[in-house]
Amino acid sequence: MHSLSPEKIEMFKSLESWAEESILPFLRPVEKCWQPQDYLPEPSSESFYDEVRELRKRAECLPDDYFVCLVGDMITEEALPTYLTMLNTLDGTRDETGASPSPWAVWGRAWTAEENRHGDLLNKYLYLTGRVDMKQIEKTIQYLIGSGMDPQTENNPYLGFIYTSFQERATAISHGNTARHAKDHGDHKLATVCGLIAADEKRHENAYTRIVEKLFEIDPEGAMLGLEDMMRKKISMPAHLMYDGQDKNLFEHFSLVAQRTGVYTAKDYAGILEHLVKRWNVESITGLSARAQKAQDFVCGLPPRILRLEERAQSRVKKGPKTGAFSWIFNREVAL
Ligand SMILES: [Fe+2]
Ligand SMILES: [Fe+2]
Repeated sequence: MHSLSPEKIEMFKSLESWAEESILPFLRPVEKCWQPQDYLPEPSSESFYDEVRELRKRAECLPDDYFVCLVGDMITEEALPTYLTMLNTLDGTRDETGASPSPWAVWGRAWTAEENRHGDLLNKYLYLTGRVDMKQIEKTIQYLIGSGMDPQTENNPYLGFIYTSFQERATAISHGNTARHAKDHGDHKLATVCGLIAADEKRHENAYTRIVEKLFEIDPEGAMLGLEDMMRKKISMPAHLMYDGQDKNLFEHFSLVAQRTGVYTAKDYAGILEHLVKRWNVESITGLSARAQKAQDFVCGLPPRILRLEERAQSRVKKGPKTGAFSWIFNREVAL
């Protein structure tokens, strides 16, 4: 579906110089970026084996349910081709050539290049711990990239940038929590790794929310209806189609572990919306049509409703199986 009108496509074209000045500065020059190798044992060094032994020693303190969350987060990062594809479905901002100089396209490519470090670092780190079944993880990544995702953004950059605002914050929260938990368990180096990634996600969130803020400024009606639309559809998680060749409900099971361990919870989902509503001053936007005012009321009243619905869903979940086996950790069982 192409729900963006030709006039609005023109509007995005006319925002190019704004995007150049206001959005591209959120990127960091390659030379100033950390690279995965900065936080991994150096394979050309004499001390490589010792560094690996130390890494593995530190990882001994991490429980299986921690690994399930970290692996799920890593797999989500590794499906990066899907997310660039998604950005390039958006009318008015897509990369028309693959190397287009449009600032929207420059952003998409450079954002991807920054994100690419996340999966690389987590993948190599997890490999070196020796605690996870790399082949099962690799199969899950291949399945997931093959399946793609359906964020229901209709080739529409209003919906697309609302989606990415939400998702970057969701990943910042999730990586922030795996950092905190690594520290609690005693693996300070892994805490640093997850924290670095969380900081990138935060910076990306700031860029995407800045775009949507601009849309609220120049077209409050369209932005309000877009936000309502995305929230009615619910923000699907980027890895919602994950499969490892064994567990048909793998994403659901991974989500239950993330929920139970507090890596990413229903409360976080509601909290993100609450934050975005404040960030974009949704409550105080005026000059809206009756239709958009209804959308405004709906969105502003949604966070507490999501929490109530989730509490009910959680109590249903608790009646299900108490543990689940994950192929990622050699079919060991963890509490759901
Ligand atoms: Fe990421
Ligand atoms: Fe991200």
